[in-house]
Amino acid sequence: MKPIGPLMWEHRLIEQMVVLLRGEIDRITSGMTVNVILVEQAVDFFRTYADRTHHGKEEEILFRDLAQKKISPEHRKIMDELVREHIHGRELVRKLVEAKDLYVNGYAEALPHIARELRELADFYPGHIEKEDKRFFFPCLDYFTQAEQDRMLQEFLDFDRNMIHEKYRTVVENLLGKKVMKPAQAG
Ligand SMILES: [Fe+2]
Ligand SMILES: [Fe+2]
Repeated sequence: MKPIGPLMWEHRLIEQMVVLLRGEIDRITSGMTVNVILVEQAVDFFRTYADRTHHGKEEEILFRDLAQKKISPEHRKIMDELVREHIHGRELVRKLVEAKDLYVNGYAEALPHIARELRELADFYPGHIEKEDKRFFFPCLDYFTQAEQDRMLQEFLDFDRNMIHEKYRTVVENLLGKKVMKPAQAG
């Protein structure tokens, strides 16, 4: 498997979450009610999966290695755009959490804001994914030898393996209000 394989599979799951968001937007606009649990699960999905796990592999491994190569100005430009888009995605999730928290705390007027932030997210991700799938990932592979691609795929797998531990260490740390020591081999 090529290293872009896992990234593209992850895009397919993100697309399915976008489908769920669109359903939730319809529910809000037609019924003026929201499934808060779905919204909270979507927030966790975008933070832990789409951002930390998926954008994490892109930025901390693929883009890091591309930065060491002589890539074309066009690819450099797209990579910079992608990094900016990741920042934008984080900001959208932060705003969604803000609206959701207001609503949960009794401000019913926040409901249309939840719908708006969900729509922003649902509109943002497909374009970002298409740019990577259709204009970036495949040409990027040409900058790497087969051995480099194999090493990158292995690093992706190692990165993923750490995620479940990172996720739940953070859950416990947030509940405790303090850091918990990591095992020596953890990333
Ligand atoms: Fe990305
Ligand atoms: Fe991506």
